Amino acid sequence: IFTNVIAAPADPILGLTDAFKKDPRQEKVNLGVGVYKTDAGETPVLASVKLAEEKLLKEETSKNYLGIEGVQLYNKVVQELLFGPDSDLIKQQRAVTAQAPGGTGSLRIAAEFVVRNTESRTIWVSNPTWANHQNIFETAGLSTKEYAYYDASTHGLNFTAMLADLESAQAGDLVLLHGCCHNPSGIDPTVEQWQAIGELCAKKNLVPLFDFAYQGFGDGVEEDAIGLRTVAAMVPELIIANSFSKNFGLYNERIGAVTLVAEDQAAAQKAFSQVKRTIRANYSNPPAHGALIVSTILSTPELRTIWENEVKEMRERIAKMRTLFVETLAAEGVKQDFSFISGQKGMFSFSGLNKAQVEQLKEQFAIYIVGSGRISVAGMTTSNVPVICRAIAAILN
Ligand code: LMR
Repeated sequence: IFTNVIAAPADPILGLTDAFKKDPRQEKVNLGVGVYKTDAGETPVLASVKLAEEKLLKEETSKNYLGIEGVQLYNKVVQELLFGPDSDLIKQQRAVTAQAPGGTGSLRIAAEFVVRNTESRTIWVSNPTWANHQNIFETAGLSTKEYAYYDASTHGLNFTAMLADLESAQAGDLVLLHGCCHNPSGIDPTVEQWQAIGELCAKKNLVPLFDFAYQGFGDGVEEDAIGLRTVAAMVPELIIANSFSKNFGLYNERIGAVTLVAEDQAAAQKAFSQVKRTIRANYSNPPAHGALIVSTILSTPELRTIWENEVKEMRERIAKMRTLFVETLAAEGVKQDFSFISGQKGMFSFSGLNKAQVEQLKEQFAIYIVGSGRISVAGMTTSNVPVICRAIAAILN
């Protein structure tokens, strides 16, 4: 049965890491996958995570199965991080949360739940969006449509075109929104624009699905939730898929959550029973370690303070690299204006480099970036920025 299987193309992001690993050149730089590096080029375990793990090692007494929805304390702290501890949604018990394997696993559970239990079959995604979104949604049985988002001529958000496209969505359609630090463009809506998005969703009965993978990497842990909280206050139903890969550096623990907000507690409980059924059919129940780390940190004030400082440090280092990148490109004599990169938020920069230029960077200089021109600024360091900028200057000048 396997002989006639057609080989799949390499993944646009993770496939690049595979190619990078095989590249024998010493000077190679991977700015493809969104993984945070220190200025020494390392991706260490956060100090808050190490402390939580020490505590768990001492206190954990069993490796018994978790419930289908995962660690209960974890699901509680996730809701508080998303909506704020005093949220009305939480008080009214309109929100239900299940631990899930990373952002991808959370999106997949959300999509499969929708397909199996509702009449909705369409999800609108931004143009451009994360290279795995269509893959996840279409595999789960949703069809995808695109709404306008990034305007290459202004390097900003084409908000008028975005709203115009979403005006043509049908009641019950889902709208994928990046909670903050839009991947790949680094351009987020303003608070007023979030309000207009919420109004449109409410007016047309569209269901927002927030992909929230970078909380804390934009303006701050609380500040970055403003879009989600604004929209959540305006619509009766929404879904959130969040991830702790980046802000806790827990990439390989695959830890995230899927949260549904329903019109009332009874609807939320019914929906939750089907979310759990979906989880049971996929992987039965989740692994514990990542959830125990996150819940320990968020519920222990001293550890939480250490973590908040670590997120701040990561956010500030990335912002510094943006400025250094823009300044070094100018110093290398690059005439094209790249100043817009300093204003983008999160791990990524949408550089405007085309496919041929991306290919040249890889072939001639062993610099790996995603084919769309997306650069992971989080992978830049004070020592590799000059190398990267010299290479970009060489292909542009
Ligand atoms: C990315 O966009 O690089 C990350 O979210 C990693 C991934 O899984 O693609």
